[in-house]
Amino acid sequence: MELVVFGAGSLGSLIGGLLAREHDVTLVAREAHARAVNESGLRLEGAVADSPDRVFPAATTDGTGLEADLALVTVKSFDTAAAAERLATGTFDGVLSLQNGMGNEATLAARLEAPVLAGTATYGAVLREPGVVDCTGVGEVVLGARAGGPSALAVRLGEAFAAAGLETTVAEDMPRRLWEKLAVNAGINPVTALTAIENGAVLEDPADGLSRAAVRETARVARACDVPLSNREARSAMEAVAEATATNTSSMRQDVLAERRTEIDAINGHVVDRAAALGLEVPTNRTLTTLVRTWERGRDVR
Ligand code: PAF
Repeated sequence: MELVVFGAGSLGSLIGGLLAREHDVTLVAREAHARAVNESGLRLEGAVADSPDRVFPAATTDGTGLEADLALVTVKSFDTAAAAERLATGTFDGVLSLQNGMGNEATLAARLEAPVLAGTATYGAVLREPGVVDCTGVGEVVLGARAGGPSALAVRLGEAFAAAGLETTVAEDMPRRLWEKLAVNAGINPVTALTAIENGAVLEDPADGLSRAAVRETARVARACDVPLSNREARSAMEAVAEATATNTSSMRQDVLAERRTEIDAINGHVVDRAAALGLEVPTNRTLTTLVRTWERGRDVR
């Protein structure tokens, strides 16, 4: 299968690199990373069992005019609209969002003719340097129709992902899965980013109460949006990801360390916005959102 990975940062490089074990992959990446991959391939480090330590996807900085069976979108949530504009100049049978946060699929679908699938990924990944990506926790890719229900395209893509050795589930309840992943990110990302801890530490005193409160509030808002996600399900999803990626530096902490804008708006900020529209109070998410936005403003990145 021919696959384009649009946004080959940490997660996109890891997923693209794993897919390149079996498929023709093109990474759309920043210049230094694209150059390193074209010159010497992509080095895969860490928890990637049975893997060659180097794979050879193509890499480009130009995301326009591309053709492939699938475009996999892994850009930051605030770059989704810009990515869609460039993807609209190419030809794809389908587009799959594997991004953090809520609203990415709708943004893509509004601008693209190809069917847009929803997906989540809980692999831990860190781009160590141009051309080198580290798998810091084996998770899972879940994908399916964005409104839920069966999808022949999702089944075809699920088979392609599984053939490359990725842990993959094709799901018919993507709206619930997206809220569950939102709860995972709401509990892990801002807490790790603001306190400079690794993912596993959110399960320990004194961070655990804060993370679990953010998760509980997210599940409550999901239920108010008619998505059946219990507090217990959301909490055990967050705990399972924090354990599987215990030594990972979360993507939001990576953003803070690199002094970049974070995905707070599409994660905890989304919970706050939806809660406000429903007349619900989500004080933990509100506080975490305010703190991260304040940090962004102080660094002049928002
Ligand atoms: O954003 C992240 O870092 C990831 O979604 C996850 C799964 C929490 C692993 O760090």
